Amino acid sequence: MNFNGTNYEIQGINPIDLCKKYDSPLYVYDAAIIERQYKKLTAAYKDAPRLRINYAMKALSNLSVLSFLHNLGSCVDTVSIEEVKLALKVGFTPHQIGYTPSGVRWSEIEEAVKIGVHIHLDSIPLMKKFGEKYAGSVPVGLRMNPHVKAGGNFKISTAHDRSKFGISIHQLDDVVKTMQQTEIKIDGLHQHTGSEIKDASTFLEVAEIIFAAAKNFPDLEHIDLGGGFKTPYKPEDKEVDIMKLGREITARFNSFCKEYGRDLTLVLEPGKFLVAQCGYLLARANVVKHNPSLSFVGMDTGLNHLIRPMMYDSYHEIINVSKTPVTEKHTYNIVGYICETDNFAEDRLLATVKEGDILAICNAGAYSFSMSSNYNARLRPPEVLIYDGKDYLIKERESLEDLMRGQKLLKFG
Ligand code: LLP
Repeated sequence: MNFNGTNYEIQGINPIDLCKKYDSPLYVYDAAIIERQYKKLTAAYKDAPRLRINYAMKALSNLSVLSFLHNLGSCVDTVSIEEVKLALKVGFTPHQIGYTPSGVRWSEIEEAVKIGVHIHLDSIPLMKKFGEKYAGSVPVGLRMNPHVKAGGNFKISTAHDRSKFGISIHQLDDVVKTMQQTEIKIDGLHQHTGSEIKDASTFLEVAEIIFAAAKNFPDLEHIDLGGGFKTPYKPEDKEVDIMKLGREITARFNSFCKEYGRDLTLVLEPGKFLVAQCGYLLARANVVKHNPSLSFVGMDTGLNHLIRPMMYDSYHEIINVSKTPVTEKHTYNIVGYICETDNFAEDRLLATVKEGDILAICNAGAYSFSMSSNYNARLRPPEVLIYDGKDYLIKERESLEDLMRGQKLLKFG
């Protein structure tokens, strides 16, 4: 969020005005940031013979955000048949949709085949089942688990040796045997190590493991190295050096393609890199409470709208956008209105808050609205996209009717 010397703004729009127009709490996304991140990523990997960005739509799946990314040239990574259907609705062709499910029922895989999206299987039993029905007719990819432990914290690491994801790289011989026995055509190898990885060396280490495995698969069309690129959350955090990473990975990828004998497509699956920084959750201070040892700001939002701080101890920058200029500061615990301990931040120094002030929780683009719930029977906030200096309502605030839809009220007595 930019400070223009007088007030905060998103593409020239004051967040306080947005709250007057749409009320709070409110999710706001800055399309210019999504575009900046997309262009940065494609520039960094420009030397790959063929590059495909599969935006991990679980991060933020609003249809207009998907449409914006589609227009930039992005493809999409999905993990459920519902995500596949949303992507189709937006206008992605089946060819532009990758599907990397984990532990879904067989009928969902069948449906994905029927739709014609590209699938990554993540177990040997599934390979066998797939082979029985589709060998010779449907090429498929495999999600491997390279067993490299990396990522912001254990819960978002997906390639350690206790992770449920992928086929263990130690089972490569079995995988190759299964491919030969079932005669399925394996056209892609996939891996995703985890989220918030900042070291280029980790990406290179994993790439080497996948390149080495790839030599066992003669029909590959793509290598998918997943997402997980670190973006800044704390003021002192640094984004992964994407230019350096892109240069190093593509150089190595290109030499691998030579060894392999033909040019393959390099697929990347970023979620946070594209959308984490574009989002703000704007909420109002309902109450400011000074206990003997601690001050609290209670907001009109909670873990039902943004669960990352409670679930992963994630840090989100918080700005009191109502206090400009900042004349004095105070330390607070910033908490939600849910009947749980829903701390957004502890001992956070903030421009002194008074009741009614609007606070902006930053970096609320990825895994924020998409992980929201109706806990405590609370309604989800609306979503607004700022595009070309204008605000667009891209999802309405939920209503009580939304909350009750589908329920049958049995009357007793
Ligand atoms: N590809 C696959 C197969 C994934 O499972 C994920 C994320 C991604 C790509 C994108 O990862 P990213 O670039 O966004 O780091 N809810 C957690 C993050 C969970 C990530 C799950 N998989 C959080 O809020 O930190």
